[in-house]
Order: sequence, then structure tokens, then C-alpha cells
Amino acid sequence: MSYAKSVKIVEVAPRDGLQNEATTIGISERVRFIEELTDAGLWTIECGSFVSPKWVPQMAGTADVLRQLKRTPGVRYTVLVPNLKGLEAAIESGVEEIAVFASASESFSQHNINCSTDESLSRMSDVAQAALARGIRVRGYVSCVLGCPYEGDISLKAVTRVAAALAGMGCYEVSLGDTIGVGTPRKARAMLSEVAEHVPIDRLAAHFHDTWGQALANVLACLEMGLAVVDSAAGGLGGCPYAKGASGNLATEDLLYMLQGMNIETGIDLGKVAATGWRIANLLGRQPSSKAALAWKASRTND
Ligand code: HMG
Ligand code: MG
Repeated sequence: MSYAKSVKIVEVAPRDGLQNEATTIGISERVRFIEELTDAGLWTIECGSFVSPKWVPQMAGTADVLRQLKRTPGVRYTVLVPNLKGLEAAIESGVEEIAVFASASESFSQHNINCSTDESLSRMSDVAQAALARGIRVRGYVSCVLGCPYEGDISLKAVTRVAAALAGMGCYEVSLGDTIGVGTPRKARAMLSEVAEHVPIDRLAAHFHDTWGQALANVLACLEMGLAVVDSAAGGLGGCPYAKGASGNLATEDLLYMLQGMNIETGIDLGKVAATGWRIANLLGRQPSSKAALAWKASRTND
């Protein structure tokens, strides 16, 4: 089996991680979190979203987060944007990269952003065009690639259609999201294989939630197919407010432990990620859900 020599990790905890928490984390703590993730060596970090604060109050203040952040040269700070209003706010905050998103499931699209998938693709296309015209990089997400909380199974044709549409509108990378974490490796492989017939695999990323404990196994299945970009969240934080039952993202610590064991380079310090993941989890009143973060803590206590 041959794997990519290095894997790029897209850290999504400050957005996908915090957007679904009952406790809202304040601006200065969100800033500190992002700075600590950067210090750990993460260089692509989704810092928040410019969505309606009525829909997702946890992400209110993303502009303040970006304003207060001490930016490290070379680090890509990205934000999620649902429409042109969000893009305007992102531009005012001086972002160099945004992420747009659309769902392979019609019902999820309605629940998540109050419009059909086609309507959302049309909005996202306008957003992408306007962003690219200003030299802002655009990344894309497809949601519900392995199942939907409202519809159950989703056809690979629907997933491929949305992924190809996002790539076609200029997304440099399309992240395939198992929004509710129901996938298993064989399904993940079949999905990636189908999508990769339409979008080159070097423009694809994996975004697994860990609801059923399958995220790491799914990532491994995708790495075996040559994928080299993976989204994850420190502490295994995360979920989607409009995906009932969706638990955290794949934990960055778990991913790092596996990649290190496979001699795949990431340039990221597991201990530093675990430390900041613990700090945020404690602010949220719990432990990280990451097994590696728990083992890291136990190994330090045993010293
Ligand atoms: P809507 O109600 O249809 O929008 O919501 P609207 O255009 O009718 O506007 C309604 C109100 O929202 C207005 O304010 C607008 O100004 C305001 P009001 O007049 O009532 O005071 N508004 C905005 N405010 C701030 N920023 C904006 C914005 N746009 C409108 N950009 C909308 C449509 C998309 C806004 C709404 O549905 C929304 O914000 N949804 C949030 C969706 C979200 O953040 N979901 C989670 C992220 S997706 C995800 O987690 C999956 C992913 O991780 C991948 C995976 O796991 O699969 C990416
Ligand atoms: Mg997600």
C-alpha cells in the first residue's frame, strides 16, 4: 500500500467544532484557541463563519475574532460563507480564503440554509465568482456524502453532482463531508472512487464526523486511495446544528497519532494540539472526545 508522503490537515475546530456547542465561547478565548493551534503547527484553520447569528449564535463575532487575531505569515485563516452578505463581511475582515458549502441532500439543504441544493449552488457560484475576482481563494464542502439525518441514504450521483459543481465554480479543493458520521470504510471508498472520476483526487479532501467511531477508519480508507487532505478538529469538537445526532469531527489528535505511526509527515505537534483541545473542552465543561488526547493526558500524569 502506498500513501502520500505528507498529509495536509485542515483544522476546523474553531468553526465546525464550536458552532454546535451549547456553551458559546467568548471572542478572546476563540482567538487564543486559533493562536495555539497555529503554534502547534497547523497552517490551515477555519476560524469561524459569517452566517446568520440568529441561526448559529455560537459563530457571532467572527469579525472580531479575525480582527483580534495575531496572524502568522504563511497560515491560511479561512471562514465559512453562505451567501453574498457573508462574503461582504468576510472581505471587510480581510480574509484571503473562504469556504462555501452545498448539500447532496435536498432536505438537509432546506434545514441548514433554507433553500434547495440547486438554489444554494447558484448562490455559492455567485459568492465564488465575487471572491475569486478579488483574489480570495475558495474551498468547497459537500454535506451528507454518506447519509442524511432526514433522508437516510444519499445517492453517489447526487454527491458527485454537487462536488463537480463546486469544483466547476472554482473551488480549489472540495471537502467531502460525512456530516452525521454514519459512513464506514467500504462506503467511504465507494463514494471517493465515484467522485474522483469527476474531480481529480488531488483536489479532494475528507471531512468525517465520528458519531459511530468510524472517522479514522474512513480516513485510512481514503488515504489508501491516494487522498492527501483531511479535515479534523482539536479535541474532537464539533457537529452541525442542523444535523441531529451529529457528534464531533474526527479529532486532530487521533489523526496525528495515526499519521505519525505511519511515518506520514504533517509538521504538527500532537502534544500542543492536545493541550489546547483540553483547554477548550474544559471551558465547555467536559473532556475532549479524542482517545489520543485522553492518552496524552494520562501519559503526562504517569511521568
Ligand atoms: P434565511 O433566513 O433564508 O436568509 O437564512 P434571509 O436572506 O431571508 O435573511 C434572514 C436574516 O438573516 C436577515 O436578517 C438577514 O440579514 C440575515 P433580519 O432581517 O432577519 O435581521 N442574514 C445574515 N446575517 C449574517 N450573515 C449572513 C446573513 N445572511 C442573511 N451571511 C442563511 C439563510 C444562509 C443566512 C441561514 O440559513 C444561515 O445562516 N444558516 C446557517 C447554516 C450553518 O452555518 N450551518 C452550519 C455550517 S454547514 C456544516 O456544518 C457542514 C460542514 O461542516 C460539512 C459537513 O460536515 O458535511 C461544512
Ligand atoms: Mg462538518
